[in-house]
Amino acid sequence: MMVKRKLREPLEDRKGTLFFDGFSVKELAEKYDTPLYVVSEKRIRDNYNRLHDALIRNYKYIRVYYAAKANSNLTVLKILKSEGAYLDTVSPGEVFMGLTSGYTPDRMLFTGTSVRNDELKFLADANVAVNVDSQSELDRLLKIAVPPVLSVRINPEIGAGHHTHCITAGPDSKFGLMEEDALKAYATAKKARVERFGIHMHIGSGILDVEPYVLAVEKLLSIAKRVHDEVGIEFEFIDIGGGFGVPYKPEDQEFDLAAFASKVVGPFKGKVTEYGLGKPFLCVEPGRYLVCDASILLTTVNTVKVTPSKKFVGVDAGFNTLVRPTMYGSYHPVIVANKLGAADKETCDVVGPICESGDALAKDRALPLVAEGDLLAVLNVGAYGFSMSSQYNARPRAAEVMIRQGKPMLVRKREQLDDLMSSQRMAE
Ligand code: LLP
Repeated sequence: MMVKRKLREPLEDRKGTLFFDGFSVKELAEKYDTPLYVVSEKRIRDNYNRLHDALIRNYKYIRVYYAAKANSNLTVLKILKSEGAYLDTVSPGEVFMGLTSGYTPDRMLFTGTSVRNDELKFLADANVAVNVDSQSELDRLLKIAVPPVLSVRINPEIGAGHHTHCITAGPDSKFGLMEEDALKAYATAKKARVERFGIHMHIGSGILDVEPYVLAVEKLLSIAKRVHDEVGIEFEFIDIGGGFGVPYKPEDQEFDLAAFASKVVGPFKGKVTEYGLGKPFLCVEPGRYLVCDASILLTTVNTVKVTPSKKFVGVDAGFNTLVRPTMYGSYHPVIVANKLGAADKETCDVVGPICESGDALAKDRALPLVAEGDLLAVLNVGAYGFSMSSQYNARPRAAEVMIRQGKPMLVRKREQLDDLMSSQRMAE
């Protein structure tokens, strides 16, 4: 019996073979080999516009800062820039890549944590707005230079996220400043003659529910009001961070943009007026939302092994290529790209070539009968996929292909064995 799988754009079932943004993934795998990340330019643009439109309909002054850490491929950065995105950066490396892909310094915000003095010097030289994460960072920065724009990362004491590693606010968090400390930081900055200000929070990552944003934005705005009234600061922007989730599991719902607009953006506008905060930009910093479902990972089945307790499908991508399942226990849909019409027949673990038992892309997953040579597609890997990959076990990193202006284009070549040693020096 042929089955029809529920696929979301840009995935398509054409006679039992998976197509991605109009191209046969089988042909892509034959041409570029596996493991291969395939990215859809169109999907990134659609995601950006859907989000931007939903926000701007409810408040006129919106900035979308793309969180480069999710996927810092230069072409991805460039595409988002061409849509009008700003850039959220966390390291000199990301600032450097932002500059290289055409973001001017005034379109970037640096939000670091545990930042070195030479990094602060780099930011000052680059003239990038700095969002400080501690009084220590602020004091050290002001000894180097007065930044063009200064923001303070607030811990609004409400955090959320798909995993404890990804909750970045709340009582136990290393991030941000608590209310009273934030007031002191702004006073320090004002005394040092900083002229332009923002205020920031980022409560976590992979949040599907809007409720935590409602509470945290309320708190952030109440702190902004105090800073405004007590320190005498006008805010150019109020940045409420990223974290908007995407559905990974079949039962997950889409992030409800309409609810976000009505429960967060609407009240934001109301409070900003009520508190006399002027017309600050409302900034958001999505990474995952913009790029996650715009990419799949193609991987070939090397080995099928049956033990008394399990069937293992051994593929050529492991946690060196996609670490999220191992690191957070994350679920990524896996489909057999050359057998879309075949019904699920058995339960398997999809495992990689890394010599650790935690190396599994999927556990106890219902799949059709899988054979060696089959091509699997792991979905929703555009965010924190390639960017978290490594050379562990001395495996060169994967290639990235983008479907761009109607054709596939290699946007990152596959690493070769030489790349494993390029920065090593042989001892005498
Ligand atoms: N802004 C700041 C200051 C951040 O630290 C982050 C993510 C973002 C924005 C973007 O968050 P997003 O919209 O992508 O959720 N590696 C984890 C996610 C870690 C996120 C860290 N910070 C994962 O694979 O789920």
